[in-house]
Amino acid sequence: MAERQAWDLAFDPATGFRRAQPPDGASNLLPSSQWPNFFSRVVARLQWDARAIDLAPDAAAWPELPDDRRERLTALLAGFRVAEDAVAEHIRPFGEAANNSLVAWVLYLQRRDEQRHAVMFDRIAAEVLALPGDTADERLDAAREHTPAGVLELFEERLPAMAGELAAGRSRVDAGIGLYHMILEGIVLLAGQRALVADLEDGALPGVLEGVERVERDERWHIGFGLRCLIDAKPSPELIDEVLATAEDASGAWGDAVPAEIRDGVVPMCRRRLAIAKLLDPSAAPL
Ligand SMILES: [Fe+2]
Ligand SMILES: [Fe+2]
Repeated sequence: MAERQAWDLAFDPATGFRRAQPPDGASNLLPSSQWPNFFSRVVARLQWDARAIDLAPDAAAWPELPDDRRERLTALLAGFRVAEDAVAEHIRPFGEAANNSLVAWVLYLQRRDEQRHAVMFDRIAAEVLALPGDTADERLDAAREHTPAGVLELFEERLPAMAGELAAGRSRVDAGIGLYHMILEGIVLLAGQRALVADLEDGALPGVLEGVERVERDERWHIGFGLRCLIDAKPSPELIDEVLATAEDASGAWGDAVPAEIRDGVVPMCRRRLAIAKLLDPSAAPL
């Protein structure tokens, strides 16, 4: 127990890096032999039940919101309905591609989180947005109609294509993690979560806000875990350049549904993550 607390206090789950200056001689980085265990302990602490969050007050409040606010929230929440379904499905080939049973175990834990997120946003689609459909598949179809084109392209075209390449052994796991953890989670979903939290801060939809905040906490460790995997995979400078170039485009995937100040903040965060991980060329453009 004492060891668990010591690790959890010392290292940030979002990066796997030490929170404070290490004592003399200690590494700044969670040791490779310890970090899969570290993330599985973080997961154990974060467990929550997507079916237990009360959405009844949200369903009652929804029709009373102004039209433009409902339109913006529908784009975001329908987008998450589509995106979480896609990431839960297409994480499957990553475990085998990682070729490391401890990493595969943590990816399994991540997949469980993504399935929980998909349930949360399907409930929101059904109970709050009242999207048409008697089944999850029908609601997914309905959600696509409201999802910004850039989000659909990334989650329903690029991600399945990458997962297919990984499954066929034609792509390396670092390219997969560059797209999944650094771009989709670290740019697109992060921007969407921030926009939702900022919009719902007034308590208009308390159940939705609670769900989004819990999802955001899970996504922090997913991004940190991805970054840690990326470090061990020793990606080429070309791959990191591609991640950064894609980050710029992906930050605009939500269109007008995400405010400019949030959109503009996520790319520098991606650069900072890569810089902390020493994956960024020091001569590249400033952070
Ligand atoms: Fe998720
Ligand atoms: Fe995730």
